[in-house]
Amino acid sequence: MVTIRNNDRLMAEIERIAEVAGYLWTKGWAERNGGNISVNLTAFLTEEEKALPALLPAIPLREPVSALSGHIFYVTGTGKRMRYVAKEPLSNGSLIRISPDGKAYEIIAERPIQPTSELPSHLLMHDFLRAKGRDNRVVLHTHPTDLIGMTHCEPFLDSEKITRTLWSMIPECRIIVPKGMGIVPYEIPGTLALAHATIRQLERHDVVFWEKHGILAVGEDIIECFDAIDTLSKSAQIYLYARMAGYEPEGMTDRQLDDLVPAFGL
Ligand code: 13P
Ligand code: ZN
Repeated sequence: MVTIRNNDRLMAEIERIAEVAGYLWTKGWAERNGGNISVNLTAFLTEEEKALPALLPAIPLREPVSALSGHIFYVTGTGKRMRYVAKEPLSNGSLIRISPDGKAYEIIAERPIQPTSELPSHLLMHDFLRAKGRDNRVVLHTHPTDLIGMTHCEPFLDSEKITRTLWSMIPECRIIVPKGMGIVPYEIPGTLALAHATIRQLERHDVVFWEKHGILAVGEDIIECFDAIDTLSKSAQIYLYARMAGYEPEGMTDRQLDDLVPAFGL
């Protein structure tokens, strides 16, 4: 019988997803079932594993994702808790296979766990980035308290303003999130409207803020996606601590921020 458990490279990759799920919980960014993860694992599966039989009938997608034809993703399950994804990723998420025409998906391992309600968003983002030739593998969505708090403040619902503010709190932020952040005005979670608004922001950014909801990062590596959000969260905390001390933080100057560009080859 074909089982993915014998594939050490694949299982190590799933373990990295579990590691990050644990960070999301310990950071306090994953209340109840808050947040979701999808990772393109196609390159880690053998041809035999890619052809595993579906555990349930194919589930149609509301919009086709033709650039993802035949691709395999690990996706966290809807309603599942990150603290349990961390312990048992394959009991709190599943491997799905996109159909050859990109119009449906099948769950192929290891249990018939229904994917996240944000799957339409995740897949449309993977599809958009792949069609653009970007070797994107990860979509990570989470609920960091400090960053969400900032999206409740009207002046920060401006990509340039929030980027400039967070970049200027520590040099690392400018270095680790070089494309700055996009802003998506509030949309109902799980909707195609949210997906399309997010895709527009991914033209220029790898990290997007969903107003009064959460943060989303895309990239080639899940640890790096986590690091980007973690660094932004650190910056937000420095900003908020300074405000709590009764001061508007000075922030690094434009010159100091610009000097990082040649120094770090940004
Ligand atoms: P799911 O449990 O369906 O993944 O939803 C969590 C969430 O954060 C929605 O945006
Ligand atoms: Zn969410």
